[in-house]
Amino acid sequence: MQPIQLDAAERRKRYEDFLLGLRALVNGEPDLIANLANVSAALKEAMPAASWVGFYILRAGELVLGPFQGKVACVRISMARGVCGTAAAEQRTIIVDDVRGFPGHIACDAGSRSEAVVPVVTGDRLLGVLDVDSYEPAAFDETDAAMLEQVASLVASLSSW
Ligand code: SME
Repeated sequence: MQPIQLDAAERRKRYEDFLLGLRALVNGEPDLIANLANVSAALKEAMPAASWVGFYILRAGELVLGPFQGKVACVRISMARGVCGTAAAEQRTIIVDDVRGFPGHIACDAGSRSEAVVPVVTGDRLLGVLDVDSYEPAAFDETDAAMLEQVASLVASLSSW
């Protein structure tokens, strides 16, 4: 069987092109929901190892499900809970190779094996998180995280959060 993930150098190259296209996709569109929806769809296509890609938006101190691609997911996540809440509370990227080993992991989909979560931050204000899940163990690495951080930075610059 073909590995689901390309090697890091090939991914880096593809992600550069992907980010250029993504900037063009959101350019000039002021509606946040429309942009996050398209970014989720584009990311899902760009990351074949991902089973779920989407945003949780910080609302009144809680992470609330935003636009995503994949199966139905948990709607509300408290700060510091699960991988998303931890990445949000600590405002840092978290890559989890095996979600069963992450204390408090929230299993929206029992099939999930690995996950990467990147905070969406402007200045020191937390806006939400970008979450990516996979059915494969250790599906995401630093190359994926670096790209996801650029996506988070792009979406943080969008208006109407
Ligand atoms: N697994 C996440 C919850 C969100 S779902 O994966 C879409 C977590 O532990 O925070």
